[in-house]
Amino acid sequence: MSTRKILVTSALPYANGPIHLGHLLEYIQTDIWARFQKARGHECYYVCADDAHGTPIMLKAQQQGISPEQMIEQTKIKHQTDFADFAIGFDHYHSTHSEENRELASMIYNRLDEKGYIKRKTISQLYDPEKQMFLPDRFVKGDCPKCGALDQNGDSCDVCGATYSPTEVKNARSVVSGATPVLKDSEHYFFDLPAFSQMLQDWIRSGSLQDEMANKLQEWFKDGLQMWDISRDAPYFGFEIPRAPGKFFYVWLDAPIGYLASFKHLCQKQGIDFDSFWQPDSTAEVYHFIGKDIIYFHSLFWPAILEGANLRKPNAVWAHGFVTVNGAKMSKSRGTFIKARTYLEHLNPEYLRYYFASKLSSSITDLDLNLDDFTQKVNSDLVGKVVNIASRCAGFITKRYQGKLSTTLAEPELFKEFTDAGTSIADSFEKREFARAIRDIMTLADKANQYIDAKAPWVLVKDESKQQLAHEVCSMGINLFRVLMHYLKPVLPLMAAEVERFLQTELRWDNYQQPLLDHAIEPFKALMQRVDPAKVAAMLESSKENLQSEPANKAKVKAKPQSSGREPIAETISIEDFAKVDLRVAKIVKAEAVEGADKLIRLQLDIGEGETRQVFAGIKAAYQPELLEGRYTVMVANLASRKMRFGLSEGMVLAAGPGGSDLFILSPDAGAQAGMRVK
Ligand code: MSP
Ligand code: ZN
Repeated sequence: MSTRKILVTSALPYANGPIHLGHLLEYIQTDIWARFQKARGHECYYVCADDAHGTPIMLKAQQQGISPEQMIEQTKIKHQTDFADFAIGFDHYHSTHSEENRELASMIYNRLDEKGYIKRKTISQLYDPEKQMFLPDRFVKGDCPKCGALDQNGDSCDVCGATYSPTEVKNARSVVSGATPVLKDSEHYFFDLPAFSQMLQDWIRSGSLQDEMANKLQEWFKDGLQMWDISRDAPYFGFEIPRAPGKFFYVWLDAPIGYLASFKHLCQKQGIDFDSFWQPDSTAEVYHFIGKDIIYFHSLFWPAILEGANLRKPNAVWAHGFVTVNGAKMSKSRGTFIKARTYLEHLNPEYLRYYFASKLSSSITDLDLNLDDFTQKVNSDLVGKVVNIASRCAGFITKRYQGKLSTTLAEPELFKEFTDAGTSIADSFEKREFARAIRDIMTLADKANQYIDAKAPWVLVKDESKQQLAHEVCSMGINLFRVLMHYLKPVLPLMAAEVERFLQTELRWDNYQQPLLDHAIEPFKALMQRVDPAKVAAMLESSKENLQSEPANKAKVKAKPQSSGREPIAETISIEDFAKVDLRVAKIVKAEAVEGADKLIRLQLDIGEGETRQVFAGIKAAYQPELLEGRYTVMVANLASRKMRFGLSEGMVLAAGPGGSDLFILSPDAGAQAGMRVK
């Protein structure tokens, strides 16, 4: 096995919010992979950093009355503590607001500029005259230009699903100051992405991307790639563009360069040759782990920028899906927006590492953290199967056989079966098929328990004539346990370290095939507690609580100063007015995402007597479509149909809540039938 040089990264978390369980999927996935590579003896480095620049960070610091530098410094400490407590073993954790990043970003920009890949163009954008700043799309609100719905985002409508430019919004206002934005001209700097079309087409199909991703990206080529606006006007928290006073790099320009900056810092600290990893003909391997929401940045802009700057491109960009909790998008009001810190206050980090590993594959499908399944799986697999093997055998070794394992192995074939499995388990780890690796490991754990059941050492030890057999059976159990823990080490590094102390040996790929014989072990101590469902419940409860004590954050930046709680009660209507609304119980027979609309779900509703209706509902942030199928809800059946970009919407379903992921569709009590009128 020749030694590979590997650099691994996870996406850089924004420096304006806490790490939550959704983020952790990515850092756990990357960490397992990086630990696996290191364990195999490769020269592997895992780096990351906080993504510190941009308008939201600048505004949040202002709200808190501190400088952005202070805010990103505080956040970085919190992020690093959270990661360390989840045993994420970065070789270095940096910040994009660092000298290394400033230098690398300037160097890369200068190279692009010299080669003519930077174009200047004056554009007209919405500007907040009060706050004296240009407004990113998400800082403009107003009425939808297509359907007239009030108070919609600057780029898209939650009600009809239309997307538009913020300049088209009616009654537009700045969410920063409430002022009416005005149009203002400014010169922007653009990166010539179209110049890299052919190179990107080839690269995307070269095996660097999962097929699902490559297919998705084809959509962008259909319409032709666009110039990418990489500059922002002051005031902006970021790096000033060389030779362009008052112009700053857009956060997404210097963010991926942060991968290089973090690695550069590590190289300087440890004497690693940076250039040997990043020159165009490098034989080192570079992999970026990312979430599926940022594929575009990593698979189009980033390789093009690297190519244009005469640096090597990554071997692969690997995207994963999104975490849902109990089948729905993480939601603050449901208590399922669980911060890393809140989790740690109640539960062992390795439960989550194991659970995610047991569900992760190389695909970009979403991953549901079902908390009942989580409890059940961790208890049955780790406590009930793996730890159980050791706890059934270790006591006898300590009490009856002077703490020493037998000198011969009871069942060499069974032991060999366990070590032979290492080849395919390693292959699964390599290919990021962690679920498959875990499945294979648990099959072996079942076998080990069956072996112990069949031999029943607790019976053997009572028979004076069977002492040697009892000793060998218990030693065999411990040896099987050791092989399993060796395989699980990248997933459970903390428990593996305890096991290494217990077994007085390091779990390694270069020694796991030799059994431990005539070897002294330490007395067994409980290696892992069962997941206590009461603690899971307490975690959800405190996730709800810390919502109330939460200081101003994203949501508040967005909302215009207005009463935070209940919406005011509307104008009184007569009973006749109410009677005009025909509300019906509807059964959701089909629910699916709508191509090209981020927020909509297409519902097919059964409203009795064979009548079905199609309704487009802006509830995608709150629900996973598949999970709605089969549920009952209430719809307005006599609302005039509306033609939308995606088809006809024939009514509306009833839902409560402020919107986004905090939205709850109403359901009738059990027993209600599709078509019943609501009175
Ligand atoms: N700052 C950018 C990344 C820049 S990389 C040069 C960013 N930050 S983020 O904090 O929003 O997200 C960091 C990573 O966490 C992203 O890969 C994102 O996809 C991932 N996740 C955030 N929420 C997630 C879930 N709910 N589920 C799974 N991954 C999630 O994007
Ligand atoms: Zn609309």
